[in-house]
Amino acid sequence: MQSETRKKLLELFSEAKGDFISGQKISEILGCSRTAVWKHIEDLRKEGFELEAVRRLGYRIVNTPDKVTANEIQLGLKTETLGRYIHFEEEVTSTQTIAQKLAYEGAKEGTLVVAEQQIAGRGRMARNWFSPKGTGIWMSLILRPPIPPQKAPHLTLLTAVAIAQAIQDVTGLVPDIKWPNDILINGKKCVGILTELQAEPDRIHSVIIGMGINVNQTVEQFPEDIRAIATSLAIEKGEKIKRAELVQEILFKIEMLYRQYLQHGFRPIKLLWEGYAISIGKEITARTLSGTLRGMALGITDEGVLMLEDADGNIHYIHSADIQL
Ligand code: BTN
Repeated sequence: MQSETRKKLLELFSEAKGDFISGQKISEILGCSRTAVWKHIEDLRKEGFELEAVRRLGYRIVNTPDKVTANEIQLGLKTETLGRYIHFEEEVTSTQTIAQKLAYEGAKEGTLVVAEQQIAGRGRMARNWFSPKGTGIWMSLILRPPIPPQKAPHLTLLTAVAIAQAIQDVTGLVPDIKWPNDILINGKKCVGILTELQAEPDRIHSVIIGMGINVNQTVEQFPEDIRAIATSLAIEKGEKIKRAELVQEILFKIEMLYRQYLQHGFRPIKLLWEGYAISIGKEITARTLSGTLRGMALGITDEGVLMLEDADGNIHYIHSADIQL
């Protein structure tokens, strides 16, 4: 089916909100014969849509497939700019690499790169990010904020808050944030965020925010060595979650918070972040690339840097580390 026809047909079903639409009405709106409508419906069924057909009433959508293609995400998307252009691929090395290239070539703010599978997903501190096919959300968002590069960590913390809010709204689960941006459910990690910059010393060209969200994996689908520390939303909730719906909600929340940030600065975001933070006011171990520190996590600075007080009362400012409670 041509993508324009498919898009129109899906929009019609979306507007009908689960009610029947007559074959006659569909054929008039799409400008095609009733036989062609029937063929389009068959095509949607092959793609995984469940459609009910009843004589005299027409067709209605009963269930949509769990895909994260541009169509699935854009159908019902509430944002103004984020995700209005989506670059989707079934399999990529890393969505970060593609987003970097698109940003370099001038892609607009809000451009989103999404894939069903990454074969070389990247994590923080030069680690890999396990990104198996069709189970999680692997995506990278391009922003072009008018802020200096030192303030870029604000956007990582902002994204963590947005994802935590979206998870809470869509699943009812209650997430925690471990500094800087790991999202945990019941003590296990289910979201990682990786922020990369294209910048000059005083100006950002683009920020690429990579988000990896474990959504529908079963325990067995995680490699054994991370089963004790990683989880998915479906494991914690006990049921599968529609990934496209979660992507829509995440983009909406990021857009709201980003707007607030550009108008009022980091303060309101910091307060929200602190509301989810589990590592503050506790004894923690921080493993940085240059060594390990132990002490009390005092809080974060207005730049989003972690303040840690060691046993001798010295305050350390930590820009990047892995935290253990
Ligand atoms: C972390 O180590 O916690 C950050 C993981 C970030 C993973 C995401 S998945 C989408 C995007 N593409 C990548 O290669 N990495 C990020």
